Amino acid sequence: MKEQFKRDVANGLAKKPKSLPSKYFYDKIGDALFVKIMNMPEYYPTTAEFEIFKSRGQEMIESMGLKPDSFFELIELGAGDGTKTKELLRVLLNGKFDFEYLPIDISSSSLDDLESSLSDEFPALQVRKKHGDYFNVLESLKENHLPKVILFLGSNIGNLTDEMSADFIYKIGSHLKPGDKLILGIDLIKSEELVIPAYDDPKGITRDFNLNLLTRMNNELGGGFDLSTFEHTAEYTAEEGVARSFLVSRVAQEIPIESIGKSFTFEKGERMQTEISRKYNDEILNNILKKTDFKIIKKLTDSRGYFADYILNRF
Ligand code: AVI
Repeated sequence: MKEQFKRDVANGLAKKPKSLPSKYFYDKIGDALFVKIMNMPEYYPTTAEFEIFKSRGQEMIESMGLKPDSFFELIELGAGDGTKTKELLRVLLNGKFDFEYLPIDISSSSLDDLESSLSDEFPALQVRKKHGDYFNVLESLKENHLPKVILFLGSNIGNLTDEMSADFIYKIGSHLKPGDKLILGIDLIKSEELVIPAYDDPKGITRDFNLNLLTRMNNELGGGFDLSTFEHTAEYTAEEGVARSFLVSRVAQEIPIESIGKSFTFEKGERMQTEISRKYNDEILNNILKKTDFKIIKKLTDSRGYFADYILNRF
């Protein structure tokens, strides 16, 4: 992990324009800041997707053609605290569906917390938590040939380029059989007025989340970043539909990174891209799906039309 981080930083800071992979946001501090982001009033994806799960669970189940008498596995990639999924679980349990819930996460402590909250709220639910990499777990489940429904929520796909998303979705499909389903939660294209505050909030929570990347490089790679010399900025246009976050150097400076054995030059005003957050419409999603073995069978949106959960069929 450390070697990969070092390589990614060495490459990203040598590039022009500079960029770093957003996956490095998520250490202990970054995870806690992301929870705060999800609870900010400006971060509409949380409430929008929750509304879909709260009010359209029955439709979701019907569109997938699930029947109470045939067993299936409900597998969630990156389950987190399960707030949205619990809404679907409630409808499935009330309808006496026969299934097992398998949350997958790279954080074993968040899986433990989820398991105990599920056993309090849904004592009858069969849960088998899976700690580890999504694809290693999917590989281990592939051989049982049981019908599967995969959940990948929160527009997590949006932090990948369209090409990487297509590869990722294709790879999910390669672990499934025809007729299996994928519920993909994605953020829809909307105006700048709504998107920018979600990525540049007035309290500066997203700024701290972004700056934490510098703290990580300082702590883990012996970096010499002075956080006060960088500012957070977010950019988005509805025409393009991609929100981008940057750290901008306020001054001209040289930053040494001890474990890389090199210094990196920043000009005054030079921007380093730290994240993309893609927003979608049907056309963009269909272009991605062309390169996969999935077809859209249903699109469920919230009442404001901010977010969609697409039900995809593996063909
Ligand atoms: C995890 N991911 C979908 C979030 C997003 O909206 O791109 C991460 C995030 N970055 C800033 N705010 C939220």
